[in-house]
Amino acid sequence: PQKILLYCDPGIDDSLAIIYALLNPELELVGIVTSYGNVDQEQATQNVAYLLELGGKKDIVLIGGAKTPLSGEFTPYYPEIHGEEGLGPINPPDTIKGELLNFDAIFKLIEEYGEELIIVDVGRSTSLAISFNLAGAETMNAIKGFYLMGGAFLTPGNVTAGAEANFYGDPIAAGIVMEKVKNGVLYPLNVTKEAIITPEMIDDIISEENNPYQSLIKEIFDYYFEAYQKLIPGIEGSPLHDVMTLFAVTTPQAFKYVEKEVNVGLDEGNLRGVSIADFRPRPDEKGNKVTIALEVNAEEFAKNFVKVMSSPI
Ligand code: BDR
Ligand code: CA
Repeated sequence: PQKILLYCDPGIDDSLAIIYALLNPELELVGIVTSYGNVDQEQATQNVAYLLELGGKKDIVLIGGAKTPLSGEFTPYYPEIHGEEGLGPINPPDTIKGELLNFDAIFKLIEEYGEELIIVDVGRSTSLAISFNLAGAETMNAIKGFYLMGGAFLTPGNVTAGAEANFYGDPIAAGIVMEKVKNGVLYPLNVTKEAIITPEMIDDIISEENNPYQSLIKEIFDYYFEAYQKLIPGIEGSPLHDVMTLFAVTTPQAFKYVEKEVNVGLDEGNLRGVSIADFRPRPDEKGNKVTIALEVNAEEFAKNFVKVMSSPI
């Protein structure tokens, strides 16, 4: 299986991504970096610890990530989408806190797994930018590759007219990652919003009791779907941005890609966090390029999601 170090901020789609990784025999989670984002960092940690405990997977190491963006400012959380504590209607028991390793555990994992390690970042880019700043680009880029959820190219954002939440949350950090990452693939809203998971698919998943997550999957999905219906009237299901980014690790052929330099808007107001790439026939590009997924086989994703989420642990 592919060895994954996951940076996340659970969050409903992050939580489903963790469950997806735990149930997928093609993926092996070797560590989870918990950061602020959809909720604060302590809550994110508690949520991950709760998910691991439910699945009897407490041996996976947790690493304490960023508590604020690089600017140190406060950024809003989104209880209306992810719930007060990030798991929709569920409040994980206070007895579960999660034991965190210090940040440099990231570098130990990079050393231990080397070229076999894949970093998947489905949260604000802060902790990954700090990793690049502390370890240096050469050390970071010696791993197998990076799968990053963020950005929206020539398509509406989800927090402002033009910006996607992960890039908006810490545009400085997103810019650092875009400038330094080699072997990085970006999964922006262009692809993640195309694949809708419906309540019927969730019913399929929970129709047989195969794993300890099934009732949780339904409860957090229902909450998320209700929120999406308010945002996008008539929508028939919910996109699961973070799950798709992990799906891409095992199924890269389900996407179509371009290679571009990506810049991130740093101004306040409606340019904050906006991702810009040059789509003109003769682009003017001088900087680092990343691969951007721009099309996805949505059906393949949905099928794979139902199969993996119905699997035993
Ligand atoms: C991204 O923002 C977060 O709130 C979600 O968990 C996902 O990572 C989508 O824009
Ligand atoms: Ca996330």
